Amino acid sequence: MPNRFVRPVESDTTLPSFIDEASRLRAFAPPFRFTSFFSPEDTLLCVCASEAALAHARLPGGSSHYQLHDPLRIAELTTGSGLVGLHLLRIEHRSRLAALDVDPAAVDTARSNAKLLGLEDRSHFDCIDLWSDNTATILSNYEPHLIICNPPYVPEPPDWRLQIEAGSGDDGTAHLMRTLDLAAQVRPRAMALSWCSLSDPRRIVAEAEEIGYMLNSLFVVVIADGEYSGAVKEYLRSLPSAYINESETLRCAVAPDGSAGFGYLLMAGDFFYAGDAGRTPSSANFVEHICEDFAVRGLSALVNPVGPVPVRTWLLDRWDELRIRASLHGEIAGTVTTAA
Ligand SMILES: C[S@@+](CC[C@H](N)C(=O)[O-])C[C@H]1O[C@@H](n2cnc3c(N)ncnc32)[C@H](O)[C@@H]1O
Repeated sequence: MPNRFVRPVESDTTLPSFIDEASRLRAFAPPFRFTSFFSPEDTLLCVCASEAALAHARLPGGSSHYQLHDPLRIAELTTGSGLVGLHLLRIEHRSRLAALDVDPAAVDTARSNAKLLGLEDRSHFDCIDLWSDNTATILSNYEPHLIICNPPYVPEPPDWRLQIEAGSGDDGTAHLMRTLDLAAQVRPRAMALSWCSLSDPRRIVAEAEEIGYMLNSLFVVVIADGEYSGAVKEYLRSLPSAYINESETLRCAVAPDGSAGFGYLLMAGDFFYAGDAGRTPSSANFVEHICEDFAVRGLSALVNPVGPVPVRTWLLDRWDELRIRASLHGEIAGTVTTAA
């Protein structure tokens, strides 16, 4: 009987496959539950940035002394299934999580996941809108050391509202701009944010710098268009701040079965509060340059990009995307490895 999981075509080897990082998701096998629109790739990328953000979250005001008696307070905005925050609770003992999502089904899922992992005493989930005044009050009272946010990021054409899990205003930055507003008020030591090359990447990093946060490291994955980004392709083409690559070479690399309309970049970064020093623009141009270069040169733009911060880059083609999903749903749990 043929092996159902054999890769039908060779993968592109210009960049490492993002599936190499999927072992971080091992704890989240069934009966862990996902929201119906959960997408593993941007959540996993936010997990990578969140782990990196822990170093600065632990260090108050740049002090070199780790405050052993100061349990970390983590806030996760747009938490969905709760995976990112719960992952941090598992590796950062004694830390606490306050998380929110506007979707009651997501909050119910996240609460049950916390219980399943034995983390219900250290986590709290609220069903609340990111834009509600209550969100600002909750965060001010909680005084988080670390804010994480893996938000919706697809730009929405005028008079067209996408599903709540996908759309984020005209340029795809609405949720992150609100998150940065909140960060300016409560000033956490560190942040881990995810965004993409469709959602005005320069604006996101420039706005973080404007409020005193410096990018510490950048994580980038090349992927194929999905259901929502594919649906707004013509609008994306019209936006000067959305970066896609439609070349045949790139489309073959992200979807060897020929199913991709274009490729784009998922991005995530960890930021730390640097006060006035953070206000000097340093990384926004670099992030924009990577996106511009990708739109022209495709994968070669992502081979060892050199800039003011370290960058890790990967490729996730449709086949490996499916393998990550299959592993999360239990089919091949524990066997996520790169194809030989
Ligand atoms: C990309 S998903 C997050 C996925 C998450 N990392 C997980 O593990 O499931 C984005 C989330 O943002 C939530 N969301 C969208 N608009 C929101 C708003 N105005 N306030 C709070 N949450 C919102 C959606 O309900 C969705 O759960």
